[in-house]
Amino acid sequence: MSIDQNKFWKEINEKQLSPENIEANFENFKSSSINHKLALFNPEVNGVRYLKTVNFLLASTLSSAEIRLLGNTKNRDLGNPLCIQYKGMSACLDYLQAAKEVDFIQREITLENSSIIEIGAGYGRTCHTLLSNFDIEQYCIIDLPNALQLSRRYLSEVLGAPSFKKITFISVAEFDASKLGTFDLAINIDSFAEMDKEVVHEYLAFIDKHCTAFYAKNPVGKYYDQSLDGHSQGNEVIELALKQGVLTDILDIDNQSEVNEASKKFLLAYKPSAHWTVKADSWAVPFSYIWQSLFAKENGA
Ligand SMILES: C[S@@+](CC[C@H](N)C(=O)[O-])C[C@H]1O[C@@H](n2cnc3c(N)ncnc32)[C@H](O)[C@@H]1O
Repeated sequence: MSIDQNKFWKEINEKQLSPENIEANFENFKSSSINHKLALFNPEVNGVRYLKTVNFLLASTLSSAEIRLLGNTKNRDLGNPLCIQYKGMSACLDYLQAAKEVDFIQREITLENSSIIEIGAGYGRTCHTLLSNFDIEQYCIIDLPNALQLSRRYLSEVLGAPSFKKITFISVAEFDASKLGTFDLAINIDSFAEMDKEVVHEYLAFIDKHCTAFYAKNPVGKYYDQSLDGHSQGNEVIELALKQGVLTDILDIDNQSEVNEASKKFLLAYKPSAHWTVKADSWAVPFSYIWQSLFAKENGA
C-alpha cells in the first residue's frame, strides 16, 4: 500500500507549508500560521482553549487544603463560568484562584470568628469562599454601587441566609472610616492598581488604623505589551490604566527576574505603615506579574 497525504494535510501543505509561505515567513515561522498547523494552537483565536488549559494546570496543583476550600464552596457555577471538570470537581479560574488566596491567608492567620473587610470585591468570589469555609463573625464589602448590586444578588443566591446576613455592603460614597469599627483582616485583590493613587493611600491609612492583618494581591507594576491583547480596549483606556495606582513602573512581565525585583516595591507600597511587617509573600499563580502578601500589624501598634 502506498501512503499519500490525505485531504486534510494536502490543504495544509498547499497553503501554510507551501515553499513560498515558508520562504516568506521563516524568520518568524514559529509564531506564524505555519507553526499553528504544526506545534502550537494559534493564541489569537484559542483564548478559551488556553484558559481551560490554565484551569487544568492549576487544578492539578491544588493541595488537599485547597481542594477542601473549593469543595465547601457550593454553587460556584452560578453565572455560567468557563469551567473544566477535574477529579469530579467543577473548576473555573476565579475559584481556583480563590482557593489559593484563602489557603495563603489561612496559613498565616486564624480566620474562625474573625471580622473581615474587603475593598473591591467584584461579584464576591472571595467572600463566598471565606464564608463557606469559616465561621466569620462579620464581612464588610466596600465597592462601587453597581458592583455592589451584583455582589449582593450573587452572594444572596450562592450563600445560605445565615451566612448572607453576616455581610454588610457599603458603597464608596458611604465610606466613613470613623463609623466602620475594627477588623481582623482587610483584603484587596486585583483592584488597588486600578484606583487613583490618593484613594489607595486613603484605604491604606484606614487599614493601618482599623485592621490587624492585610492581604494584598495585585500587579507589581504596569506593562505595555501590545502582543498580549492587541490593545483591544483602545489607547485611551491603556493610558488611563498606566497612571492608576501606586506602582506605575513599566516592566517586562514575561521576565521573572524583573517581576521578582519589582515585588520589593510592591511590599513597600502596600505595607500600611512602618508598624506592619510582611508575614508571607509570594508570586500569585498563574499570572506572571501578580504578587500576594499578608501584612500583620505589630503587637501594640
Ligand atoms: C478587577 S475587579 C476585582 C474584583 C475581585 N477582587 C476579584 O478579584 O474577583 C476590581 C474591583 O474593584 C472595585 N473598585 C474600583 N474602584 C473602587 C474604589 N474606589 N473603591 C472600592 N472598590 C473599587 C470594582 O468595582 C471591582 O469590584
